[in-house]
Amino acid sequence: MLSQIFVSAALAMSLLPAVLTQSDCARTYTVAVGDTCNAIGAAQHVSNFQLNFVNTQINTDCTNLFPGEELCLGIVGQDCTTTAVVNSNDTCPSIEAAARIPDATLKANNPNINADCSNIAVGEADIAEEQRHFAKVIATFNQYSSYALAANNRRRKDFYSLASEDQRMLERLGWKAKLIDIDNAILENAKFVKAIIARPVIFSDADLGEDAEGAEEQEQQGSTHSHADGHTHNHDHGHSHSHAGGSGYGAGRYRPTDFDMDKLRSTLKQFVRDWSEEGRSERDASYGPMKEALLNHFANVAEGERSKLRVLVPGVGLGRLAYDIAQLDRTDQVNQHTIYPYVHSLSNIPNRNALLRPIMIPDALPSAIPRGVNFSLVAGDFEEVYGTDDHDEDEPQTGQWNAIMTCFFIDTAKNVINYLRIIHKILAPGGVWINLGPLLWHWENNTTNDISIELDLEEVKTLCERMGFKLENERTIETTYTNNSQSMLGYVYKTAFWTATKIEGET
Ligand SMILES: C[S@@+](CC[C@H](N)C(=O)[O-])C[C@H]1O[C@@H](n2cnc3c(N)ncnc32)[C@H](O)[C@@H]1O
Repeated sequence: MLSQIFVSAALAMSLLPAVLTQSDCARTYTVAVGDTCNAIGAAQHVSNFQLNFVNTQINTDCTNLFPGEELCLGIVGQDCTTTAVVNSNDTCPSIEAAARIPDATLKANNPNINADCSNIAVGEADIAEEQRHFAKVIATFNQYSSYALAANNRRRKDFYSLASEDQRMLERLGWKAKLIDIDNAILENAKFVKAIIARPVIFSDADLGEDAEGAEEQEQQGSTHSHADGHTHNHDHGHSHSHAGGSGYGAGRYRPTDFDMDKLRSTLKQFVRDWSEEGRSERDASYGPMKEALLNHFANVAEGERSKLRVLVPGVGLGRLAYDIAQLDRTDQVNQHTIYPYVHSLSNIPNRNALLRPIMIPDALPSAIPRGVNFSLVAGDFEEVYGTDDHDEDEPQTGQWNAIMTCFFIDTAKNVINYLRIIHKILAPGGVWINLGPLLWHWENNTTNDISIELDLEEVKTLCERMGFKLENERTIETTYTNNSQSMLGYVYKTAFWTATKIEGET
């Protein structure tokens, strides 16, 4: 792993006392399970140099931290809290220019930097950002029940604000009992949500602290669409867009936003789509033709040889399409968890059952991947992971994928030309790209000044051909996305389906 230097600026540190006493310490931090110097540095705004200098017990590689250990983060009067995380392409001059400080100040505060500034290292900034993002996810999951119960309490409050005659009429409909049922459904959901985060270490290499509190800065919430039905149209991205370099977790309780909670509610519905019997018809409509096209394309490959084909599923959601491809239709019914994904909105509900019906998940064992199938999930932006040149010698991408399956994915692009270019580049000769989805451009109307190129279907297909794809099997497939099948409102997407092979193109 690359090491990282958090460069500090603005305060000189030349007069550290030889012996540190408790009262000399401006700030302290208690090490949590999984903490690293880099993570502490990023979250607490302390440079690696300062952390090491003040805590002489920490070894050079920072491998001897232990949970519960109290660290001093800075000395009174000499505690530099203005830090910057070194990013790729950073140099000392670029850092100094960004911080508006002279070289002497940077070097005085970071005596570990060598004369030609060749020992600053990059890369871990992304890790710190990722950890902040995961901390927010966990904080959001932790606070799901209080948010959802508060929303239901609003209904209770409104009920009590009615004239007593109206209250009586609603009461005869069993209104209060219904609100109690909703509360109970939310509490059941909360059990499931808490079970997901019971071991936060699954989110990253590092544990994120007891309550993943903090992660103060609000995420960029630029794009505003989701494919899910309903009235909210928050953008359904799974990755972080946190650009502020500042505060980290541990510095105060993170207050989830409506956007965060909406994503969590969408996730519950995505569990239904991907991992329940209820979602089967939706999966059959979307994933079914894609799997069939995949098998058709490789019909000449013997069954025993198929596990050698490399299939990529970008934007895999909760993973079912990739799992089904690996599974070759073996399923086990387990139904271990019960969730109530439809209790958060009372609009367009025909009856109590449509609102309160439980959904059992999963309908297949996620762990039952057949032996010999190399199945992995990669978190990260598609363009960043697959679009950069093959600088990672261990994991080259060009021409490596026999099949690429994009389901409700290509419209997540800010500039779909990039996606097409990458898909073309990483597809193996003789490979197939199978697409199914609408064009609900996720970044249209974004509030973060991100670009968004919204093409119509004809334009996308023309581009595909110019890029060197031969499109075949084109058709429109009508399907829903995380639909409540009992709702009085339903969106049906007329999705574009095609299979594409690679020929030479203009790029
Ligand atoms: C509409 S969902 C579709 C999920 C899944 N394919 C399905 O059909 O249920 C879009 C997916 O793309 C992912 N996504 C959005 N932008 C992405 C990007 N730039 N790179 C990688 N994945 C992205 C989201 O996290 C989400 O999982």
